[in-house]
Amino acid sequence: MDKVQPSVTQVNKWSVMSRVFHWISALLLLVTWAMIFLYGNTDNSLYINLHKAFGVSLLFWMLARVINRVFTKAPPAVAMPKWQVVISQLTHFALYALLIAMPVAGLLMSVYGGRPVDVFGLFQIPVFVEIDRSAARFYNDLHTDIIWPMILVFTVAHIGAALFHQFIQKDKLINRIL
Ligand code: HEM
Ligand code: HEM
Repeated sequence: MDKVQPSVTQVNKWSVMSRVFHWISALLLLVTWAMIFLYGNTDNSLYINLHKAFGVSLLFWMLARVINRVFTKAPPAVAMPKWQVVISQLTHFALYALLIAMPVAGLLMSVYGGRPVDVFGLFQIPVFVEIDRSAARFYNDLHTDIIWPMILVFTVAHIGAALFHQFIQKDKLINRIL
């Protein structure tokens, strides 16, 4: 039997599937970012191709995660002021939306630029639109200048809130997702 603190047993956890979805999404986000970081530092096309492949994987993963979320009952919120519950729900919603919008913008940037997207050599997403350089530029700007900074802001706020709960509130909220 696990030895758990009495206060831990009072924390209601997310379902196993929701916890797996959460951490694999975070990992895919980290790897997708690492690939574009390596590409920026080496200019090796292997990394941009992997960036796209992991990004597309994150898109599919997030779509599956939304379906899982629709059928999952959230555990009752830990005790906190109503405004904090509302802010956390808005932040979670924003993260879902951004993690879907980001790869969609990346995909549209590529196909409007006339480049099919290869996913780990397993399959290819063909150019399914008419090539349009200005649309490609628009989605490029959306991808890099709008959505990416928003992902950074919401992720920092999210992790900051988790650390606040862990070290200031000491309410074991993190255990809900572990
Ligand atoms: C959630 C998934 C994704 C994240 C977090 C992400 C993140 C990023 C970041 C941080 C950059 C660099 C921005 C900069 O230069 O400052 C970038 C660039 C780029 N991304 Fe993504 N990306 C994702 C998905 C995709 C997908 C699915 C594709 C294409 C199929 C894609 C194609 C590109 C391309 C071509 C660039 C280079 C743009 C340029 O150098 O002008 N990305 N991405
Ligand atoms: C060290 C990193 C992270 C920690 C400690 C963490 C912690 C948590 C915790 C404790 C919850 C549950 C909140 C609750 O039950 O009220 C949660 C949910 C969530 N996290 Fe994270 N998280 C981390 C990274 C990330 C990242 C990188 C993302 C995406 C960018 C993310 C997106 C989400 C989303 C969307 C939810 C809401 C789940 C739902 O409503 O289905 N998390 N996280």
